[in-house]
Amino acid sequence: MNKWLTVCPTKDLPDGSCKTVDSGMKVIAVFNSGGELHAIDDFCPHMGAALSGGHVEDGMVTCPWHAWRFRLCDGAWADNPKIRIGSYAVRENHGIIEVNLPDSPSP
Ligand code: FES
Repeated sequence: MNKWLTVCPTKDLPDGSCKTVDSGMKVIAVFNSGGELHAIDDFCPHMGAALSGGHVEDGMVTCPWHAWRFRLCDGAWADNPKIRIGSYAVRENHGIIEVNLPDSPSP
């Protein structure tokens, strides 16, 4: 079943900032970019840097280690959009930012 995971109060994620939340399976980075909220895996597939420490500009986050860039809206790698990291729905619910965790695959 889908699950909404609490990230933080809305006031704690101002424009240009990022928060991380641990789902228990992975860490997710939640960005406020120009007032839009986005959530992607906090893991660069190149060598594993935390994307939450990257620079955000024009709807992209740049990895802090070797500058690979990922779209915040869908996790696509800018140089080859066929490669994507996980991206997640985000909502604001009564002053709290929440991330939607997808259903777990059936065993
Ligand atoms: S670890 Fe992200 S670009 Fe190398």
